[in-house]
Amino acid sequence: MRQYTLKNTHRMELRVLDYGGIIVSLAVPDRTGRVDDVVLGFDRLEDYERSSPYFGAIIGRFGNRIARGRFTLDGRTYTLATNDGHNHLHGGVKGFDKVMWEVSPFERQDSTGLMLRYTSRDGEEGYPGTVRATVTYTLTEGNELIFDYEATSDRATPVNLTHHSYFNLAGEGEGDVLGHVLTLNANSFTPVDSTLIPTGEIRSVAGTPFDFRAPTAIGARIGQDDEQLRYGRGYDHNFVLDKDHDVPASTTLAARVFEPSSGRVMEVHTTEPGVQFYSGNFLDGTLRGKKGTVYSPRSGFTLETQHFPDSPNHPDFPSTILAPGREYRSRTLLRFGVR
Ligand code: GLA
Repeated sequence: MRQYTLKNTHRMELRVLDYGGIIVSLAVPDRTGRVDDVVLGFDRLEDYERSSPYFGAIIGRFGNRIARGRFTLDGRTYTLATNDGHNHLHGGVKGFDKVMWEVSPFERQDSTGLMLRYTSRDGEEGYPGTVRATVTYTLTEGNELIFDYEATSDRATPVNLTHHSYFNLAGEGEGDVLGHVLTLNANSFTPVDSTLIPTGEIRSVAGTPFDFRAPTAIGARIGQDDEQLRYGRGYDHNFVLDKDHDVPASTTLAARVFEPSSGRVMEVHTTEPGVQFYSGNFLDGTLRGKKGTVYSPRSGFTLETQHFPDSPNHPDFPSTILAPGREYRSRTLLRFGVR
């Protein structure tokens, strides 16, 4: 395993592994100029191979769940590896988070970055077609961290790439994230069954604990007696971003998170139609992270920009099928600041 470091002149710094493209640390200044690491992870690199719940990793070939690991494409049924009960999750047993990426660093005038490449062979985890994926991480002088995803395939296959950092903007290990104030640019979300597979309904967030259109603390309604919160053990849902699905060319603001004690703000901009907001409910206190800290439930949150879960089985959802000769392109930009 090799580790790469990206820095800018505003004291932002991230460290990245070639294994899984994992971001192992992300240093960001607070409102007083104090720099803290805002992502959960491990001190020992071996722990990423052994027991990581996707900390900081690239997720592929398909981010999120595919029901019973099965889908039909062009009249043929494919069976994928199942690794989340009966379901396929985050690319399977050995997804893009557990493979070695070929990394090339680059420098530009106002930014610095890494280009990560991986070829996923035909049949990997049950998927058809050889997929060549390139993920580029760019750190700018504007305190932005940009993720550019590109892929091609020689056969039609589902592709849905994302990134899985768990953030705690107070600093990793600094307790839970329930006081973080979240805004989500989403009028609706995709309700799930008890195994976290979308039912197919697109439900309005109005009058539900899923309405984050106005800034609201993550913890404000997380304990409410609500069937969807019960299924997720908190938030673990795909939000439908307000945008025209047919015009995916430019990024739009998906989310803003503000952490009151540090003043840190993170904005998420994306070309994707959805974002999985996961409040770290499955962190059960058995993992010891950096400096031996026990990660208890909700000590980090993720905002996984994506196409909707189980899309290959929902013809009404925006398509995730990459056809041969076509190019998959997706961009997510995180902008850090203070208030
Ligand atoms: C995603 C899923 C969660 C969980 C985490 C990893 O966010 O939606 O249900 O599986 O990954 O633990």
